Amino acid sequence: MTAAAVERVRADLLARGLVEGLPAEFAAGVTRFAQPTQAELDGLVGDAGELAGRLAAGTVGAGDLPLLTRVLFFARHADVLAAAGLPVPVYDVLGSFRENLGRPVGPRLAARPAAGRRWRLLGRSVGFPIGVPACVLNGSEAEVRYNLANGWTVLTYKTVRGRAHPPNEQPNWVFAPRETASLPPGAAGDVVADPWDWVPPGVPSVSTVNSFGVPSPAPEEWMADLERSLAAVGDDALLLVSVMGEDPAGTGELAALAEDFARTARLAEEAGAPVVELNLSCPNTLDRSGTGVKPPLCLDADATVAVVGAVRRALDDRTGLVAKLSWLDEPSLAALVPRLAPLVDGVAGINTVQSRVRRSDGAATFPGRELAGLSGAAVREPALDFTRRLVALREAGGPRFDVLAMGGVTDPASAAALFALGADAVQSASGAFADPFLAQKCIAELGGTV
Ligand SMILES: Cc1cc2nc3c(=O)[nH]c(=O)nc-3n(C[C@H](O)[C@H](O)[C@H](O)COP(=O)(O)O)c2cc1C
Repeated sequence: MTAAAVERVRADLLARGLVEGLPAEFAAGVTRFAQPTQAELDGLVGDAGELAGRLAAGTVGAGDLPLLTRVLFFARHADVLAAAGLPVPVYDVLGSFRENLGRPVGPRLAARPAAGRRWRLLGRSVGFPIGVPACVLNGSEAEVRYNLANGWTVLTYKTVRGRAHPPNEQPNWVFAPRETASLPPGAAGDVVADPWDWVPPGVPSVSTVNSFGVPSPAPEEWMADLERSLAAVGDDALLLVSVMGEDPAGTGELAALAEDFARTARLAEEAGAPVVELNLSCPNTLDRSGTGVKPPLCLDADATVAVVGAVRRALDDRTGLVAKLSWLDEPSLAALVPRLAPLVDGVAGINTVQSRVRRSDGAATFPGRELAGLSGAAVREPALDFTRRLVALREAGGPRFDVLAMGGVTDPASAAALFALGADAVQSASGAFADPFLAQKCIAELGGTV
């Protein structure tokens, strides 16, 4: 099966005249944002050269697939693997945020996997409640359609703003192959990650670091796209919409921030959003810390409750509301959740863990931004810890809310661990990026038991 798919890839590459140029295109991708040492570069490009030789000679086999995948991904020909049904990361890290919105690069399943029963979530009935959270994998109609086709049912449209906001300069998203173990809850990472780093698709210990800056198209653009995206969602799936407010005039006034959150939430509602998720967890608002990023709003309980209350009052009663939090310590979460519970239908978390990220040569991986968001296997323990405490706070009484858990879900076992703690839905960003077949695997393994 794999040998036949590799042969199909070879035939496709030959037919498109791509084999000869592959080592040079791979080298260009590897060196796009920074230079490896000469020895490392020579090793990588040498391997790509030998692979190209085997492709030309017709001697490639299934054993070449790992190298072939890395070479085609960084040569920006991952679509050839996807067309043969082979797994590749679903986002082109060499392409811009815009390019990716129009073109998810992963393989698409011929038949959408389904568990054959329904679950309750946020007052709706959905298929197996596994999904993709607010992130760049879910920012357009094309991406939403792609995720639905591959079995994800609980999608959160990427955080949008009340005015256009450009992405940070590339690179924006890098594998963190040295982060194979989880940080303990509450710790910040100190990560070494190079833009040419790689983790093969489907490896459960995958972690990534990202620094996108929460880009957003202008409301006219995202509202029209959101309407089309919602039209693509059948009655067994749910598309939430993540929004974020700003303090446009930079006055530092909470009322201005809350009003902008409410205005943006109303725009999402106007476009048809059945549920609005408030991004209270990205480095987004109020202070300037001098490192190019700001602390998340949810660290300030009074500000968070003021914002969520303002949004709740602004929205129609029928529109669902979810608050997305980052990992919070015991006293902070225990103080916040009882105040949020009367205002929301669900609480989502965790977000990425803000970490220092450097290249192996010591320079910042994301130039000008010393801190970036770490996610995937490296944040699994913080996510379990947060979910356990969040569910306990819900069980302690007060208005019932659903729990949308995420952080470190990269295989069925890590998804099952969050469901076992009481999560109503589980989402995956880094895992969904690194394994295009993750939803299918979760449905097959967990659809009968959760
Ligand atoms: C590339 C990338 C972009 C993200 N963008 C957003 C965003 O716009 N809004 C948001 O609330 N969370 C965002 N997140 C955080 C994810 O939704 C999720 O909370 C986090 O990555 C932890 O899950 P994971 O371990 O499955 O990646 C982003 C994560 C990644 C990896």
